[in-house]
Amino acid sequence: MSEQKKYRVGLGVCGGIAAYKAIEALRLLQKQNCEVSVAMTKHATEFVQPLTFRALTDTYVLVDDYDESNPDPIAHINFSQNIDLLLIVPATANILAKFANGIADDFLSSTYLASNAPVMVAPAMNVSMWNHAATQRNIEQLKADGVIFVEPVSGELACKTVGTGKLEDVENIAEQVMKVLSLESIVQSPIVSSTQDSRLKTLDLKGESLLITVGGTREAIDPVRFISNHSSGKMGFAVAEAAQKRGAKVTVVCGVTNVEPPENVAVVKAISAQEMFDAVMQKLPESSVFIGAAAVADYRPKQIAEIKIKKTVNDIFNLELEKTPDILANVAANRHEKLLVVGFAAETNDVVNYAKSKMEKKNLDLVVANDITQKGAGFGSDTNIATIISRSNQIELPLMPKRELADKILDEVLKLRAK
Ligand code: CTP
Repeated sequence: MSEQKKYRVGLGVCGGIAAYKAIEALRLLQKQNCEVSVAMTKHATEFVQPLTFRALTDTYVLVDDYDESNPDPIAHINFSQNIDLLLIVPATANILAKFANGIADDFLSSTYLASNAPVMVAPAMNVSMWNHAATQRNIEQLKADGVIFVEPVSGELACKTVGTGKLEDVENIAEQVMKVLSLESIVQSPIVSSTQDSRLKTLDLKGESLLITVGGTREAIDPVRFISNHSSGKMGFAVAEAAQKRGAKVTVVCGVTNVEPPENVAVVKAISAQEMFDAVMQKLPESSVFIGAAAVADYRPKQIAEIKIKKTVNDIFNLELEKTPDILANVAANRHEKLLVVGFAAETNDVVNYAKSKMEKKNLDLVVANDITQKGAGFGSDTNIATIISRSNQIELPLMPKRELADKILDEVLKLRAK
């Protein structure tokens, strides 16, 4: 297994009751192979001792540049220049106000100004403070400055009031940190906008039931041999994960894959094209969107030998193949009124034309086409370069993680649903 990239995260902790949750965020990021260094505001130290973070990170926790115990005389510069992302958990109304106005009167606010790394803030505060015009103005300013927000959620707050102001689940915060870091390392430019994190919490696919075929199929020749392909299943699973996160009920009919299915999706195993076809047809009536992301074998051996085929003296061995059922075409041909049908077209040449003819021939609503000869778009890769084609539109997308492409595909599905 390849070693996961080690990212450096600067964790800023502010003075709020949710400060203890920063400990959990730190642990989650460390589990994701992040090297985390911690800076605290003075007020944060009223809630959690610097020693806690020091023990967990094995490094000096910065609170005050001028403190005699601080081993680094220009700590805010060194700290800010040696991180891949600055994360603030919890972000108080006070730190948002300082960041928005460029006030640098303590270590953390100086670090914010001195850093070129992306900044993510997870605010937590009393509902009135959150709703206050001044705070909302600062939030708007920070979003315009490119700061990524993990918005607080609604719930019972420490002050016993109910409303927006509760820190988002630390799991989601850590997940969004990793998403930004992996995007940064792929594209090496600040392409993440504040709309992308809110997407994770948008349940815009609620009420939809997605049926997705994933991975490659295996077509048996005899008890030991088979015909298959290089599909990893990553693209299909990325769509499944994205759809589940956006509130859809998801079933994957899963062939052979290199990766584990995401959590909270139903998995039906189907190794051959015929098994996949049968499983899909059984689940189809309860589905509202079908996505054919599997690399289904087009042909299979006409006869499966019951016992192992032995070598003969002949140099040539002929294997007679027959067509497998085309799952995607059959789904589209037997669709109920509400069903949207999405196919994939992995091509090596004349990509868009082949994809368009596939859309016509198989009667698809959407086809996701990619040129598998391009760097970053092949089988097994974590990224893809795709063109999403519908009857009225054609969107050419740049190199991006499969997980992000998954969201783009689902955005187009939603546009079709709206029609
Ligand atoms: N597909 C399917 N069942 C099959 C074959 C393909 O559901 N038996 C689906 C795939 O999941 C994908 C799309 O059809 O969504 C790919 O179309 P296909 O015409 O099979 O692609 P190729 O095998 O590349 O075909 P061609 O050789 O015509 O390019």
